[in-house]
Amino acid sequence: MIDPYRRRITGLRISLTQRCNLNCRYCHHEGEGRTSEEMTAGEVLRILKIASSLGIRRVKYTGGEPLLRDDLSEIIKGSVAMGLEDVAITTNGTLLKGRIPELTRAGLKRMNVSIPSLDPSLYFSLTGGDLSRTISGIGEAAEGGINIKINTVLMKGVNEGEVRRFIELASAVNGSLQFIELENLNLDDSFFSTHYLDLSKLELMLQKMAERVLLREDMNQRRIYIVGGTPVEVVRPTNNPEFCARCSRIRVTSDGKIKPCLMRSDNLVDLLGPMRCGTSDDDLRALFLKAVSLRSPYYSRQT
Ligand code: 5AD
Repeated sequence: MIDPYRRRITGLRISLTQRCNLNCRYCHHEGEGRTSEEMTAGEVLRILKIASSLGIRRVKYTGGEPLLRDDLSEIIKGSVAMGLEDVAITTNGTLLKGRIPELTRAGLKRMNVSIPSLDPSLYFSLTGGDLSRTISGIGEAAEGGINIKINTVLMKGVNEGEVRRFIELASAVNGSLQFIELENLNLDDSFFSTHYLDLSKLELMLQKMAERVLLREDMNQRRIYIVGGTPVEVVRPTNNPEFCARCSRIRVTSDGKIKPCLMRSDNLVDLLGPMRCGTSDDDLRALFLKAVSLRSPYYSRQT
């Protein structure tokens, strides 16, 4: 699948639920409107099968919190069986305890864990959750052989001083780390304007700290700073035409609609409705192609 801006679509990000056991103040809810509708495991796997027949090579399951789905392992197992290059989840990590054997048996090798602070009281005030559960969860996951990437949204006046501590944590679990710029999506304007932090200075700092800098070929030619052996990336989508120009990812919402762009909600293409009315695989493929034809870069060079 290639969109009108010559971007090849190889990654799919599927939201499995909007339910979450935390309530993060900065959460963009994957740009979704509120819904309680969810796809069954069979429906998720059918969508992935169609997508993989159209060239999707990587899938990431997200939420809400995907571990709230009892059938997560079944979904992972079915996805791994399709022979994709990469099957991963994004989780807040608080519900990992005791689930690792089941997840590794299903074939999960990689996860992103969202952690906004390593200070327990700040973590609690940002998320409503217990940091120690996340830390023990990722410890268990690392011991189980799962590759861990920590996702940290850096915010002005909140957690900007924790960069080194995050690098130490990533190193302790033999994982990697990405710092993400706050995106203005599903947030109230005052939260965004108060806490938005431009991460270009952080990049300069990492450049100095790093013993090596690599370029990531699969994703936006993004730089990977190797700091004390730990890979650290910086994700800066805001007002960044380069980011959009290299976007190779499309999304499916928890209620089964293709979402061509994280930042837009006016061009969704429903799959679940037609699927529940008995539509054919060919029709579903046509819906994917339609969604891809609707893609345009949110931040473009002209603006
Ligand atoms: N801006 C940037 N990233 C966000 N995430 C959640 N909300 C925001 C936001 N407003 C990140 C989380 C999670 C990933 C799915 O998206 O940290 O790791």
